[in-house]
Amino acid sequence: MRITIIQGSPRDQANTAKVARFFEEQLAQKDAVSAVRFLDIRSFNFPNWGMGEASKEDLALFQSGLVDADGLLFVVPEYNGRVPGAFKNTLDYFRGEYKKKPMAIATVSGGPFGGVNALYDFRDWAHYMEGILSPTKLLVSKAGVLFNEHGVPVEEHFNLNYPAFLDDFLWLTQKIAK
Ligand SMILES: Cc1cc2nc3c(=O)[nH]c(=O)nc-3n(C[C@H](O)[C@H](O)[C@H](O)COP(=O)(O)O)c2cc1C
Repeated sequence: MRITIIQGSPRDQANTAKVARFFEEQLAQKDAVSAVRFLDIRSFNFPNWGMGEASKEDLALFQSGLVDADGLLFVVPEYNGRVPGAFKNTLDYFRGEYKKKPMAIATVSGGPFGGVNALYDFRDWAHYMEGILSPTKLLVSKAGVLFNEHGVPVEEHFNLNYPAFLDDFLWLTQKIAK
């Protein structure tokens, strides 16, 4: 299976990117996964829709990351109770690419609530786009202290829950993959 990870924080110092890179490492070790691509919205920096010209090469690159994937893993922070505007703006450049695509969402927060409002926001979006969302969620709390100096996650709730989150996403993707 080919998996694409979408990193959804626009910040230079994004904690979400660390979580997304950790998932990339984990997925690359799975026998069932043949390739992992990483789409970081910061690398594309698409202008607000209608307010500038996005590079055709970048659009094609992002689009191929969506289309070629058997499953999409979104890793997204919560900003003011929703997904970040920059993330939504990036997604808005595409549409049919999400239809019937297996997806999972991990939301990331610096606080104790794991970005639960962004989870619900994303679920509405995924439903609207007719994606097929894994029922298993992952709320990542206290993201600033999640990893130790060696990049190892040290938060009990995260360590308890991320394996099933990834396995259930792969299970769903495998069921639907061509
Ligand atoms: C503009 C902005 C709004 C934010 N709003 C929320 C929020 O509503 N709820 C929350 O738990 N954290 C909020 N945060 C904190 C993020 O959860 C925190 O930055 C965390 O590290 C994940 O975002 P990051 O990947 O950009 O670092 C906000 C951060 C920013 C920059």
